[in-house]
Amino acid sequence: MKINETLNTIYTRRSIRSYTNEKISDEDVNALIKAGLSAPSHINKMPWEFVVVDDKMMLEKIANATLYAKMTKDAPLAILVCGNMNRTILGEGKDIWIQDCSAASENILLAAHSLGLGAVWTAVYPTHDRIRNVSKAVGVPKNVTPLSLIVIGKPKDEDVEEKVLPTDRVHYNGF
Ligand SMILES: Cc1cc2nc3c(=O)[nH]c(=O)nc-3n(C[C@H](O)[C@H](O)[C@H](O)COP(=O)(O)O)c2cc1C
Repeated sequence: MKINETLNTIYTRRSIRSYTNEKISDEDVNALIKAGLSAPSHINKMPWEFVVVDDKMMLEKIANATLYAKMTKDAPLAILVCGNMNRTILGEGKDIWIQDCSAASENILLAAHSLGLGAVWTAVYPTHDRIRNVSKAVGVPKNVTPLSLIVIGKPKDEDVEEKVLPTDRVHYNGF
């Protein structure tokens, strides 16, 4: 099987939830944001907004705002990926910002892994409580909806279980 650096990054990425105290360099933060900004989006609308959080008190505030992202308290960095409703289309396709912002979120996860960082996607959207609490903690305006909080740091635990891929869910030339 052909393998290259990109495929290797995709195949070996895992959710990492514990981190060292090491600060993430500005260069790495910029690379992560550039990865998010490089994602594909429906008719190139780029409806995303990214909030970079490296302030300890703010990270703690976010951790307290949601039950499922407690690791944020001990992380050096988190990026809140949001959709700006003023930049989405109207009508039946209005929810397509979720796909756009998901593509940006995955790009950030892969970029983090490629830089030797560990990251995890924690869900904000579509749970109303999480959206409200995280928006309040971060000061997100009304027209902007947080989709995911990507928590990032230098990985503390090196060992991750090997992932079993459900290849029986792949169908060829029909379901
Ligand atoms: C949409 C989405 C929401 C997720 N939400 C959370 C979350 O709130 N908290 C968390 O610890 N992990 C969350 N995860 C990470 C998943 O638990 C993880 O991707 C899954 O267990 C597979 O493990 P892997 O990422 O190591 O392949 C989320 C992942 C996705 C894609």
